[in-house]
Amino acid sequence: MVDLGCGNAYLTFAAYRYLSQRGLDVTLVGVDVREDQRRRNTELAERLGWGDRVSFVAGTIADAAVEPAPDLVLALHACDTATDEALARAVRWKARWVLAAPCCHHDLAAQLRARPTPAPYELLTRQGILRERFADVLTDALRAGLLRLHGYRAEVVEFVDSQHTPRNLLIRARRTGTGPTDEQRADYRDLVTQWQVTPRLETLLADTPEHPLPDGAGRDETGAAGRDETGPEVRRAG
Ligand SMILES: C[S@@+](CC[C@H](N)C(=O)[O-])C[C@H]1O[C@@H](n2cnc3c(N)ncnc32)[C@H](O)[C@@H]1O
Repeated sequence: MVDLGCGNAYLTFAAYRYLSQRGLDVTLVGVDVREDQRRRNTELAERLGWGDRVSFVAGTIADAAVEPAPDLVLALHACDTATDEALARAVRWKARWVLAAPCCHHDLAAQLRARPTPAPYELLTRQGILRERFADVLTDALRAGLLRLHGYRAEVVEFVDSQHTPRNLLIRARRTGTGPTDEQRADYRDLVTQWQVTPRLETLLADTPEHPLPDGAGRDETGAAGRDETGPEVRRAG
């Protein structure tokens, strides 16, 4: 497993303890640009007796050395487009599971400010606070949409109540080996074309081919269509 943008590694240590106590054979790497965090977290892992299982790397989410490629990618509140870097890295690793709770969203908010709003949606963006909140929703909807184009079943859920943090959305994705349907491609393309935006994740994945369409396009190994079948997109986890 990897925890991208791990900071003080509260999640890293909690995830290791939770999973190892359930008998899972887990190794976990925490990645953060800050060398001081790497030193502090490494010392803590050693004090806990977990030094051979929980390690830390100082480097960027985009290119920190993590070997072997992880099965599961965590990213909790990686700032702004660092979440996009985490999702892109997960796609390139072909990670089986991705759990990413985004933080602030500035990228699409800036793009929306710089372009005329397509009709008939002016009321959505006229007020600054509404435009920011709409940009948040658009960003995470497009992130989930892009993950679907790259072979993931993706859903967006609330992982804690908003009284704990307003940043309480979780993008939860599982690699299915499913190629996207034409409808999924069109949904994504129509949305970015209409709003004239280029999400950072799209740019980061530009050189990564979409998941290839297998025989029986848009169907996974179980024969199910490559759409979420887990109910409404936004709902409370657990
Ligand atoms: C808001 S903190 C969250 C820390 C931790 N995940 C948590 O929730 O407690 C974001 C962390 O991401 C790190 N970070 C931001 N951009 C990064 C990047 N491109 N590569 C690696 N680390 C990054 C920052 O140094 C910071 O420690």
